[in-house]
Amino acid sequence: MNENANVNLCPAQKRPFSALSTGIQYNQIAHEYARYRESDPAAIERLLARSGISSSSRVVEIGCGTGNYICAIQERVGCECFGVDPSTGMIAKARQRNLKVTFSVAPAERLGLPEAAFDLVFSADVIHHVQDRAACFREAFRVLRPGGMLATLTDSEDTIRRRMPLALYFPETVEAELRRYPAIKELEHYSELAGLTILGQEVVEHPYQLTDAESYNKKVFSCLRLISEEAFASGLARMKRDLRRGPIVCVARSLMLWNQRPCEAGPDEDKPLAQPISHDITPACVSPA
Ligand SMILES: C[S@@+](CC[C@H](N)C(=O)[O-])C[C@H]1O[C@@H](n2cnc3c(N)ncnc32)[C@H](O)[C@@H]1O
Repeated sequence: MNENANVNLCPAQKRPFSALSTGIQYNQIAHEYARYRESDPAAIERLLARSGISSSSRVVEIGCGTGNYICAIQERVGCECFGVDPSTGMIAKARQRNLKVTFSVAPAERLGLPEAAFDLVFSADVIHHVQDRAACFREAFRVLRPGGMLATLTDSEDTIRRRMPLALYFPETVEAELRRYPAIKELEHYSELAGLTILGQEVVEHPYQLTDAESYNKKVFSCLRLISEEAFASGLARMKRDLRRGPIVCVARSLMLWNQRPCEAGPDEDKPLAQPISHDITPACVSPA
């Protein structure tokens, strides 16, 4: 089957998003990334609540970078955690952070992990960087145990357009991001091709106050490397001007796509699948279960 059949293509360019590359060199920005980027606490809460993982679970983060998410999960749950990322610089930073997490250098397409061994596999802000997304979902299926869950934290067109502060101060990032992010339907398509069941999707929101422009100044958000220097400088100047008047009210907003590797027939056949998520994309904040 043609893997691009029935896939939503990039609206602006009518070609698969996966053909577009940003060429972000994570080895070069690992130091600044470790210093300024943090996990989204609302996303952590949803990962824990929805997956139901416990201290006896095994969890993998694909594209873990400097370990923001997988370290938080290891510290909260105390389970066996694995972080995988192709950037040696990002993994070096992650290793300095938590000795209880096993980190390795590998891409999403070839995780180098055992089959059917993990209860939860997830990625956060990574799938738009992955060139072969079909292989990424196949690999997630392979390493998940039957009944295990996959969570993909990414952005939809709606969350990209409503990004605050990025869309307000750097509006040029919006079209650039729409060109590089895969449509949610494309991800669903690849997940089904891989044999995963789609459980649903939810919007995760975390309101916060921005008090400092340094993470923007350092361009630790990769979309700031996609716009012209002029557009960047203008947005940064407006952000700094507003910050002099007080904190800027922001909302971290992402879309979480949930999949599950179906349970196998046999001794486990009576084991129920996780409940589907009852709502489709919703602009409202999803309250913890
Ligand atoms: C925006 S960072 C996210 C890091 C981490 N998940 C976080 O939220 O802090 C994107 C990460 O994707 C990684 N990456 C790029 N291509 C990848 C691939 N093919 N497979 C897995 N990870 C990839 C980069 O090395 C980088 O660490």
